[in-house]
Amino acid sequence: MRLTPGITGCLWGSAAFAVVAVMVLVLVSTSDRNKRFEPDVDNEIPLKDVEDYIINNVNPDNIRTFLRNMTRRPHLGGTEEERELARWVATTWEEQGLDQVHLVPYHVLLSYPSPDIPNLVCIVNANDQAIWTSAARQKPLYAPEEGSPEIPFTFNGYAAPGNVTGQVVYAGYGREQDYDFLSEQGVDISGKIVLARYGKIFRANIAEMAEARGAIGVVLFSDPSDYAPQGSDFVYPHSYFMPPSAAPFGTVKLVDGDPLTPFYPAVESAFHIPEEEAAIPKIPVQPISYEDAWQILSRMGGTPAPPEWQGGLNVTYKLGPGFLKNEFSLNLDVNNQNAHTITYNVVGVIKGSVEPDRYVMLGNHLDAWILGAIDPNSGTAAMLELSRVLMQLSKETGWRPRRSLVFCAWGSEEYGLVASVEWTEQFGKQLADRTIAYLNVDMAIEGNYTLRTKSAPLLNDIIFESTKKIPNPNPEEVAEGRRSVYDTWRLRKPDPVDPEKPQMLFIGSGSDYKGFQHNLGIPCMDTRYTHDNTTKGEPMYHTLYETFALVDEIYDQGFHYHKAVTALWGDVAVVLSDSKIIPFSLVAYAEFIIRAYEEIADKYGELIASQNITMEFFGTAVNNFNATVSEFNENLKHINLNKPLVVRKVNDQLMMVERAFIDPRGLPGRPEFNHVVTAPSKKNAYAGTAFAGLTDTLAAITESPEDQRDALWRTFSHHLAAVTHLLSTAAKVLTDDLW
Ligand SMILES: *[C@@H]1O[C@H](CO)[C@@H](O)[C@H](O)[C@H]1NC(C)=O
Ligand SMILES: *[C@@H]1O[C@H](CO)[C@@H](O)[C@H](O)[C@H]1NC(C)=O
Ligand SMILES: *[C@@H]1O[C@H](CO)[C@@H](O)[C@H](O)[C@H]1NC(C)=O
Ligand SMILES: *[C@@H]1O[C@H](CO)[C@@H](O)[C@H](O)[C@H]1NC(C)=O
Ligand SMILES: *[C@@H]1O[C@H](CO)[C@@H](O)[C@H](O)[C@H]1NC(C)=O
Ligand SMILES: *[C@@H]1O[C@H](CO)[C@@H](O)[C@H](O)[C@H]1NC(C)=O
Ligand SMILES: *[C@@H]1O[C@H](CO)[C@@H](O)[C@H](O)[C@H]1NC(C)=O
Repeated sequence: MRLTPGITGCLWGSAAFAVVAVMVLVLVSTSDRNKRFEPDVDNEIPLKDVEDYIINNVNPDNIRTFLRNMTRRPHLGGTEEERELARWVATTWEEQGLDQVHLVPYHVLLSYPSPDIPNLVCIVNANDQAIWTSAARQKPLYAPEEGSPEIPFTFNGYAAPGNVTGQVVYAGYGREQDYDFLSEQGVDISGKIVLARYGKIFRANIAEMAEARGAIGVVLFSDPSDYAPQGSDFVYPHSYFMPPSAAPFGTVKLVDGDPLTPFYPAVESAFHIPEEEAAIPKIPVQPISYEDAWQILSRMGGTPAPPEWQGGLNVTYKLGPGFLKNEFSLNLDVNNQNAHTITYNVVGVIKGSVEPDRYVMLGNHLDAWILGAIDPNSGTAAMLELSRVLMQLSKETGWRPRRSLVFCAWGSEEYGLVASVEWTEQFGKQLADRTIAYLNVDMAIEGNYTLRTKSAPLLNDIIFESTKKIPNPNPEEVAEGRRSVYDTWRLRKPDPVDPEKPQMLFIGSGSDYKGFQHNLGIPCMDTRYTHDNTTKGEPMYHTLYETFALVDEIYDQGFHYHKAVTALWGDVAVVLSDSKIIPFSLVAYAEFIIRAYEEIADKYGELIASQNITMEFFGTAVNNFNATVSEFNENLKHINLNKPLVVRKVNDQLMMVERAFIDPRGLPGRPEFNHVVTAPSKKNAYAGTAFAGLTDTLAAITESPEDQRDALWRTFSHHLAAVTHLLSTAAKVLTDDLW
């Protein structure tokens, strides 16, 4: 077992920090090759040729080789295995010839299962004897590496250690409405252990709400009706559905980044809050497989759960509390340890020839819960191949991007975006001033059905145009006349409002773009190939069975889908780095804001008016933004593209639009989210609703008794004024005037 925090204990000191820092310096100085090119030469290779080169030169065999190599061993964040992978990525970029490669260490608080004592769920009788005990680890089923002794005991990151015994209550998907339903039924979860299904909301929200309502522990499982709907013959390794022994890992920390250094970087000089104050659960939380959940559910008592809470196991799911046999209780014994450890980001730079101080950033994380062949290393493999192709282009033709391309391999994302958030905290001011966009690929594929893309509206048009250029990796689709990635995307995931277009999802949260989009106001994208809608998510997500074989033998034989995502990623990046005028879709942003405004007005207009609160200023700001966008685009047609300062001015204005929506004070009650338009909704960190500060407050108002709404109305009015002001500012930055 390599996960002992023993090594990390001794690294937690300034002497060790100095060693790491020196190593970084050496690496940077040997790799700084800035002097090789002239900084002020406008690049002469037409963008179209650069795009074609990327599309034609991404080699799926290289992606396969990279992926095979990275997925032989587990590489949890903050472990020596993650650091080894980081050093290998750094070396690979050095060998490819990137201009700079930095290894950036952060001292952070992570969490590991005990190396010796597994986390177990037991059913105990009146004599405290276990009559059934859950599996300590997921069963090896197929790939040799699944049986490695390095595979960690099953756990949830940051779940508190504790040994609790009590009655079990089944809470459906563990959403707020599910807990409310239990109270309405007179089933109190206080002092009890909650058994909940993963699949509708972020697991940290499930645990947080259970803890807030007094539960002493949470056991999570993934139901076969969601993840193995075609029955037991169609599960891994025969198919891509979830096998009965799978127990998905995942973090249960809610606030992103290092839990001990909120808002500031976890550098040597950092102030650390006491661990008791960190935003991590105080109760034990543990994932189990659905074959283990059956052992509990089949013995439970109480009234049958409602039809929507019934699942795919061959029992009637009951609410509890407790078991049919009164003497039985559930025991949850979690032995996780929080550990201070070092996690690295690797940052590689291809310096821009004309505007080196403007960055187009691309990123993916390194750490995996276990072997990580899909999440995240399908994306890491794509990124390494993309950097290779770009450097090959540079060597063959002398091409340099106009603006710098910055590749990032993030540490400890799985624990809650730890090292990317620390990095955006450390370099936030420079990044906010200089970054054009951040393009994230958390995983390149989780299926081969269609592309699925989340994006800030400013990037919508660039992404649509790029996908039209990427050849369709599906030969059957090509035979049907759908030649591009766009064509299949539009067919298989049409926009519900405008089915002529593919559906572009709202950016939300849930991966390393969080700090960029939601704190710094840098437009972000996150893209991948996904599966069809027969399951709720990638069925092997965060389980032991996310193996190389799953990718190589089931999802992407030949790695053609990886190639398509790699080419798309590269194409979007060079369009952003090499276009003289940044091709942001301002019109899409204006339309998005208009739609969001209308939704709020339709749904809550009367309620708001009943308080004598006017939406007029907000509405005027919306229209004004829309009108200013039209004027700006009109003016753009007449500017002199040969005047560098004019070009730079217009680009600065374009860059400021997304920044303008940043409220330094954060959303109401949520200082960790600053973007008033794109912040994710409070109740589910994965989902996206525009103007979440307004809609979350309005939802809270409708849910509270009439006589307890005053404070919420005040919050609403205050935030409405802030949003209106920032929206007016977003219009102003597109003009040349101060006022
Ligand atoms: C595979 O990765 C390891 C580091 O994890 C590295 O030392 C080795 O050189 C890599 N091998 C190949 C063939 O890329
Ligand atoms: C945890 O609690 C159970 C049930 O009370 C008990 O049998 C077991 O010995 C406890 N484990 C430890 C390590 O204390
Ligand atoms: C129900 O499922 C359990 C667990 O998979 C299995 O052991 C049992 O035989 C099944 N019972 C029936 C009646 O199918
Ligand atoms: C899955 O998608 C198909 C085709 O778009 C649609 O007809 C079907 O209703 C969807 N099924 C579910 C469960 O959403
Ligand atoms: C695409 O995925 C399906 C499973 O969803 C798999 O059966 C099929 O072989 C995959 N296609 C390729 C080319 O890998
Ligand atoms: C709104 O204004 C009307 C007219 O002045 C007044 O009668 C009503 O009480 C006000 N409502 C609230 C909630 O302030
Ligand atoms: C937004 O601007 C466009 C272009 O000027 C215009 O056609 C459209 O009607 C405007 N939308 C609204 C809601 O004002």
